[in-house]
Amino acid sequence: MKPWISPSILAADFSRLGEEVRDVLSAGADSIHFDVMDNHYVPNLTIGPLVLKSLRKAGITQTVDVHLMVKPVDRLIEDFLEAGADYISIHPESTEHLHRTLGLIEQGGAKAGLVFNPATPLEVLSEIIELVDLVLVMSVNPGFGGQHFIASSLDKIARIREIIDASGRPIRLQIDGGIKTTNIQSVAAAGADTFVAGTAIFGSDNYAKTIADMRREIANKAS
Ligand code: DX5
Ligand code: ZN
Repeated sequence: MKPWISPSILAADFSRLGEEVRDVLSAGADSIHFDVMDNHYVPNLTIGPLVLKSLRKAGITQTVDVHLMVKPVDRLIEDFLEAGADYISIHPESTEHLHRTLGLIEQGGAKAGLVFNPATPLEVLSEIIELVDLVLVMSVNPGFGGQHFIASSLDKIARIREIIDASGRPIRLQIDGGIKTTNIQSVAAAGADTFVAGTAIFGSDNYAKTIADMRREIANKAS
């Protein structure tokens, strides 16, 4: 699967969000990662469906992957489907009925993502893998940008890569948290193909150069 670099707008300048999104897309980003936090499932509060709707209205047509860190989650799925989400990713801890919640995303016409926190066991994945289009491995505890990458995530990525390959399904394997030019190669080598980066991209002086550097590191993973 073609590697995707997906900047997290959590680290963007929210006073000029449309411009930031346009800039990062013209700098070569493949998709936009949209972090939704509710001050309940995670101890932080960010943005909701209205913001995605505004970006769509402003002419942003590229892929947006919505990472829902909210509980309860089902009601908001409807709103994000309507707002124009392409992918919607959820944490198994945020719903009592995971199979039904993933089904809501699929029936709404979006692609479904399943997110694993650093301490969440992987067992559930094989039970519902036929409903999953993306697996997201959190390499920090969810809630904040700018945290340090947790090294044990590499092993988790490698284990999920095996499960995905054995399933034969076209599932993206995404990593989120503390990704930078200096560690992206090891994550790619472990088997990730979709890379979220907030601080490393929006905190840099030159988005295009940072994204190009990341792409080069990913391409060099085998050498
Ligand atoms: C954390 C979010 C991440 C975060 C990544 O809960 O899910 O998407 O914005 O930010 P960086 O790349 O700064 O770790
Ligand atoms: Zn995220």
